[in-house]
Amino acid sequence: EPPKHLSVKTDRDADAEDDGKKKVVVFFGTQTGTAEGFAKALAEEAKARYVKATFKVVDLDDYAADDYEYEEKIKKENFALFFLATYGDGEPTDNAARFYKWFTEGEEKGKWLNNLQYAVFGLGNRQYEHFNKVAKVVDEILADQGAKCLIPVGLGDDDQSIEDDFNSWKELLWPELDQLLRGDDDASGATTPYVAVIPEYRVVFINHEDATHLEKSWSLANGHAIHDIHHPCRANVAVRRELHAPASDRSCIHIELEIAGASLTYETGDHVGVFSENSIETVEAAERLLGYPLDTYFSIHVDKEDGTPITGVSLPSPFPSPCTLRTALIRYADLLNSPKKSALLALAKYASDPNEADRLRFLASPAGKDEYSQWIVGSQRSLLEIMAEFPSAKPPLGVFFAAIAPRLQPRYYSISSSPRIAPTRIHVTCALVYEKTPTGRIHKGVCSTWMKHSVPIEETQECSWAPIFVRQSNFKLPTDASVPIIMIGPGTGLAPFRGFLQERLALKETGIQLGRSILFFGCRNRKMDYIYEDELKHFVETGALSELIVAFSREGPTKEYVQHKMAEKASDIWNIITQGGYIYVCGDAKGMARDVHRSLHNIVQQQGSLVSSKTESMVKSLQMDGRYLRDVW
Ligand code: 2AM
Repeated sequence: EPPKHLSVKTDRDADAEDDGKKKVVVFFGTQTGTAEGFAKALAEEAKARYVKATFKVVDLDDYAADDYEYEEKIKKENFALFFLATYGDGEPTDNAARFYKWFTEGEEKGKWLNNLQYAVFGLGNRQYEHFNKVAKVVDEILADQGAKCLIPVGLGDDDQSIEDDFNSWKELLWPELDQLLRGDDDASGATTPYVAVIPEYRVVFINHEDATHLEKSWSLANGHAIHDIHHPCRANVAVRRELHAPASDRSCIHIELEIAGASLTYETGDHVGVFSENSIETVEAAERLLGYPLDTYFSIHVDKEDGTPITGVSLPSPFPSPCTLRTALIRYADLLNSPKKSALLALAKYASDPNEADRLRFLASPAGKDEYSQWIVGSQRSLLEIMAEFPSAKPPLGVFFAAIAPRLQPRYYSISSSPRIAPTRIHVTCALVYEKTPTGRIHKGVCSTWMKHSVPIEETQECSWAPIFVRQSNFKLPTDASVPIIMIGPGTGLAPFRGFLQERLALKETGIQLGRSILFFGCRNRKMDYIYEDELKHFVETGALSELIVAFSREGPTKEYVQHKMAEKASDIWNIITQGGYIYVCGDAKGMARDVHRSLHNIVQQQGSLVSSKTESMVKSLQMDGRYLRDVW
């Protein structure tokens, strides 16, 4: 049961009412924009409900410049709502990282948040080990430090319908906010259901004979001193090469992105974010479904013609325009993921066939929950497939880009080089995503497909390029190179370790003494997918790597995985742990990293002859000390 309290006025309410309005701050920690979208949608709905309150949606990074400012500002807040996504190995989003570090690692401040009432909604995925960790941790600390929790932390699960989780959480929140924020003249409220307005950009069509030449150029972005997700850097593809043998039925690409002359730097173990392009076949399919030619040249606006902002809806940030529809579809539209329920409602509004409109509305309704989850999510129907199933739905472009096709997100890769060896190039090792979905569609991963077909500058000056940026990670070698390390990375999980080994090789060449290192790599078959085989052997020959252990999963009668090889090396692993060594795991989080974790647990238990609880705390402390690091996805 959520706590019910505060129907009576308190001093702090009076405080917040100095201009007659209570102020609610809505924070978001977002990576792909979902948390931000929820924060904005909630604020819009709340504004309509509570005339006597103001709602401000704030990016956690923009809120404060440093720890001190976080403290000063949060102390003064009375009402805060948090939308917090969890990524990777239980980590915060980039824009919440600074806040999270300060809030979770800062000094003990006692009950300093007594004036704050709050609610937290988390965005995560139940398939992962640290489901909604960030939201849970923030919720717990807020309560510990004296803030009053309005309702239990919402645990949004992207594996199912996170929109439904958000809606259920909101239904719990309204009665609480009604008590706190409703004024006497609020006509709205629990009795009148709020009907979400479908967001729509104002679109201006521009007539021009040869529009393509007018488009804003990405090269402008290279003028920025600092590159981040909002200011990416244009990078050419310098090298592209297939890593699998020709006979392999899968594909793994090595590409090198040129950063010479750009103010973009990276460190071994960092990630690179790549804004890729939809393939032309995908874009042409969208063209047919939308009914506008690809050469349509237009601009999008979040203000009205008279310059005043469009209000009452949560509009996503616009993409650079004017541009052609071709560019908009290639660079900015996510066309291959399953549509959200809100997108179905927007499509329904523009379906001229009433049967189609009804069916779309049903799929988005609570009654259609199971069908949505099976027919759309379960069968991985893409937005384009859905539009093809409802051919009468022809949304205008302003609606399509604001409410139906989400923004195409950058894809992140663990960088597979070291700046000591490749200072002007970022290397990426990427497995091609190519799989049949339940509807029989071949799903081709957007970025891996782009990489596979990218044209390197080695071949032509008209080479492929992408806007990129670097995301720092804490997946780093020990500062003291003599500390022993264990690396575990099957498949493309090898990527950051190639960077590590390049780094160690460079260190060794400068005369630095290296500690012992063991790499556990896994692949299916020596002849097909043993990627970077020659390089790995070279690392062994030069002493950058002490021991290379490879598990081939499809050579013998039984599967052999990295964790089986680890078990064979249990005493070596234990020795390295007890000598203060580091353990690194990179690769698939749902299967491999989980199994490797279990295997490590068993090794510690056996080798140390520990009881189960002691093992648990030993592995935990390895993690806490930053000696057991994971880069998983
Ligand atoms: P498989 O495809 O034969 O199952 C890189 O993808 C390697 O990791 C492959 O050899 C793959 O084997 C293996 N792999 C798959 N699942 C794994 C798991 N849970 N733990 C460790 N390795 C795994």
